[in-house]
Amino acid sequence: MTPILEARGLSRSFGSVRALDEADFDVEEGEVVALIGDNGAGKSTMVKAMSGNLALDSGTVLFDGRQVALTHPSDATRLGIEVVYQDLALAPHLDPTQNMFLGREIAAPGLLGWFGFMNNKEMRRKARQSFNDLGGTVRSLTSPVGNMSGGQRQQIAIARAIAWANRVVFLDEPTAALGVVQTRNVLEAIKRVRDTGIAVVLISHSMPEVMEVADRIQVMRLGRRVATFKGADTTMEQLVGAMTGALETEGQSS
Ligand SMILES: Nc1ncnc2c1ncn2[C@@H]1O[C@H](COP(=O)(O)OP(=O)(O)OP(=O)(O)O)[C@@H](O)[C@H]1O
Ligand SMILES: [Mg+2]
Repeated sequence: MTPILEARGLSRSFGSVRALDEADFDVEEGEVVALIGDNGAGKSTMVKAMSGNLALDSGTVLFDGRQVALTHPSDATRLGIEVVYQDLALAPHLDPTQNMFLGREIAAPGLLGWFGFMNNKEMRRKARQSFNDLGGTVRSLTSPVGNMSGGQRQQIAIARAIAWANRVVFLDEPTAALGVVQTRNVLEAIKRVRDTGIAVVLISHSMPEVMEVADRIQVMRLGRRVATFKGADTTMEQLVGAMTGALETEGQSS
């Protein structure tokens, strides 16, 4: 199967740090790929490269088998790629509904819409639906997200990405700030989204979480992919071995 999204030989340095060093990555439709690796391995940089948030020194990105230039976040959005960034990237002064619809506001019907009036009721209804689907704990849809807890903000970012993605969704440590119940809900939501044919890329330091939901696991170390495993038949030892470099397996295990 042609991957929906594939990276070949991506490189990007920041000064003397090679954040990406000839890194490869690929994800197919209807699968969950976990992207794992130690702190600083290059995972978030990879996400930024594939969502139009990073200029590359070299390398190629293919979407549906065709080379694409992701030079701006809107390039990724247009292809149906959504991201929950590790630092969340919400607008703190706006409420959850406004964050959910930022840049995609629903216009009021008829002439009012033509004059720039928004259909706030409809947007609130859809936002409420998305948060409920996620089993979230976002209580107010009308107070600024800057006043909300870290976990509530994370739920808003996740609900937004899931609602808009139609091909690929990147979740960069989505459960890091979440409670037990909310984590469970997010893992279930990941499976539901995957089952609709969307590709899900999960970045997580939680190995039990990764082993529960991932169809494949790609390991990064020092800016490159060093191993690919099938989710079902991988052991914790293999994953840790690949992350730390005790086990060099790229090309053999995938
Ligand atoms: N904008 C930047 N300027 C300078 N250095 C950067 C920048 N972005 C990333 N780096 C460096 O690139 C390397 C990879 O960072 P990255 O954020 O991709 O790691 P990560 O795998 O996501 O780690 P973590 O698990 O801690 O989130 C790090 O050494 C980081 O300091
Ligand atoms: Mg990161």
